[in-house]
Amino acid sequence: MTELTNEQKKAIADAQATFEDIKNTSEPLNEKQLDLLFGQARSMNGWLSKEVSDDMVKSLYELTKMGPTSTNCCPGRFVFIKSQEEKEKLEPALLPNNVPKVMSAPVIAIIGYDLDFSDHMTKLFPHMDVAPMYKGNNEMNVSTAFRNSSLQGAYLMMVARAMGLDCGPMSGFNNQLVDETFFSDTNIKSNFLCCIGYGDSTKIFQRLPRLDFDEVCKII
Ligand SMILES: Cc1cc2nc3c(=O)[nH]c(=O)nc-3n(C[C@H](O)[C@H](O)[C@H](O)COP(=O)(O)O)c2cc1C
Repeated sequence: MTELTNEQKKAIADAQATFEDIKNTSEPLNEKQLDLLFGQARSMNGWLSKEVSDDMVKSLYELTKMGPTSTNCCPGRFVFIKSQEEKEKLEPALLPNNVPKVMSAPVIAIIGYDLDFSDHMTKLFPHMDVAPMYKGNNEMNVSTAFRNSSLQGAYLMMVARAMGLDCGPMSGFNNQLVDETFFSDTNIKSNFLCCIGYGDSTKIFQRLPRLDFDEVCKII
């Protein structure tokens, strides 16, 4: 084990103090806040005509990027479509049932994953040379990119809800067409779409059941 530099020791001490401070000066979320994030939050099928500013989109990413990924690899790539022109480029890739829900959304995020994510590992994980582990193993590279971009997409939805926005996630689209349209000449692949805005409660369906603890969990 190599000796830590003074600079590294200070960075670790600062991180520990920052974490201690937030834990010691805040309460866990209350029931209502948990309901907004999970318990009563819903997937949206329609949208109010209320704008989501570019600043809000940027704030959304600033928190999303802080969610954990393996070896801090951050493979998620995000295209936030706001203009009518770009929405129209997306439209042919959508399943017919999804067209009205998507086209009326103020923002449509394409959550993608970069198969060249390991090119950034010297910045993201500077203390260890992990890039060859990914570059040399295609299966691990793809599963890591897909797994962690899915997580990052989920973080995006939770951050959006915490900011008072609503989400409509979608996988009913032609990934290949989306990749050709929005990620040509890159090694980025689309994972799923997430409509973002202020949801129209009159378009919400009945709540579908979830699996009970005993059906899918065990404590061992
Ligand atoms: C990855 C993903 C893909 C989805 N794809 C679609 C879709 O293509 N079309 C659609 O109408 N809903 C889609 N949904 C919405 C789900 O049907 C919805 O989240 C689920 O039924 C739970 O609804 P609730 O959050 O309102 O309880 C998708 C959700 C997720 C997470």
